[in-house]
Amino acid sequence: MKIAILPGDGIGPEIMAEAVKVLNALELPLELASAPVGGAAYAASGHPLPEATLALAREADAVLFGAVGDWKYDQLPRHLRPEQAILGLRQALGLFANLRPAICHAPLTHASSLKPELVAGLDILIVRELTGDIYFGQPRGRRPAPDGAFAGADEGFDTMRYSRPEVERIARVAFEAARRRNGGRGGKVTSVDKANVLETSQLWREVVTEVHRDYPDVTLEHMYVDNAAMQLVKAPKNFDVIVTGNLFGDILSDEAAMLTGSIGMLPSASLNERGQGLFEPSHGSAPDIAGQGIANPLATILSAAMMLRYSLQRPDAAARIEDAVRQVLAEGLRTPDIFSEGTRRVGTAEMGNAVVRALKR
Ligand code: NAI
Ligand code: MG
Repeated sequence: MKIAILPGDGIGPEIMAEAVKVLNALELPLELASAPVGGAAYAASGHPLPEATLALAREADAVLFGAVGDWKYDQLPRHLRPEQAILGLRQALGLFANLRPAICHAPLTHASSLKPELVAGLDILIVRELTGDIYFGQPRGRRPAPDGAFAGADEGFDTMRYSRPEVERIARVAFEAARRRNGGRGGKVTSVDKANVLETSQLWREVVTEVHRDYPDVTLEHMYVDNAAMQLVKAPKNFDVIVTGNLFGDILSDEAAMLTGSIGMLPSASLNERGQGLFEPSHGSAPDIAGQGIANPLATILSAAMMLRYSLQRPDAAARIEDAVRQVLAEGLRTPDIFSEGTRRVGTAEMGNAVVRALKR
């Protein structure tokens, strides 16, 4: 199994080094090959996603990605900015499903500003469609405002659209994920839309309901997005898997991340139709703490676990990593971002080493 390792910028290389340690400790037949991406690649070769990096990603079974971006590159033209590498990879690999778990590891006490009992033990998964919706729908643009309306003003417009096959494939990912999370069958999928107002959402609801016929063991419920935003704060543990479009998913997945209060611990996956995927922490390159050895590597380590589960068909190895992470947290080890009174403050490498030790026990 071939894995492309793309560390990127800022804390990317630091957190990736720890994930690589953990992967090596599994003693599986994994072939790791690393390549520059983002600002680091631009600095080395003039492009954030060089041909060689793209070729490596294409031929790998999965891509493990750190993070890209740095204020140093803010003045570059858009197509050369580090963040373009992510868009380029998404497009080239056909990644259409974004999976973001929001997990509140039980021993964390700092974290969320919500009542602890609301989020303790939270474990939900948001499945967001990535390639369609109002972000990409045509036509879009600017035009003069229609006659008589606001003299001198122009008008901006975007088109929200989804096709039946687009909804169908993301719905399947959600139902399959619900099964996977619940021991092979069962679980619940909440499909989030705005079907009381939007045509796009009415089609969405219709198609998700049809696809559900193939998954009778999974419970399906529909929820309007405004209510979902409310329920996420009020009773987040009532959710299992949430599936939604690009726009609503963008917002709800950030809201769900904040429930856990620890961005440094949240992994994510983006999958294509062949099950190939790009796995990365939900956070960015954190230039404010780069080079200090204090970044939390757990989001990247848990992204490697998702990679084993979703792309490499090794759920057993994924569970070993997740167990090891639970153990080090139970032992009280904390990087500064999740530190609280009565726990032990450790750096990036110390945290990675502890996970490796727990794995080998
Ligand atoms: P960020 O996620 O990098 O940082 C937000 C805050 O969280 C910072 O205070 C940072 O120190 C902290 N943080 C993030 N990850 C952490 C970790 N593992 N351990 C401890 N603390 C952590 O988001 P921000 O500041 O908005 O963006 C910084 C750069 O990252 C920008 O250039 C942005 O474009 C890029 N970015 C890249 C992403 C990617 O590669 N997928 C995603 C989001 C942002
Ligand atoms: Mg977002």
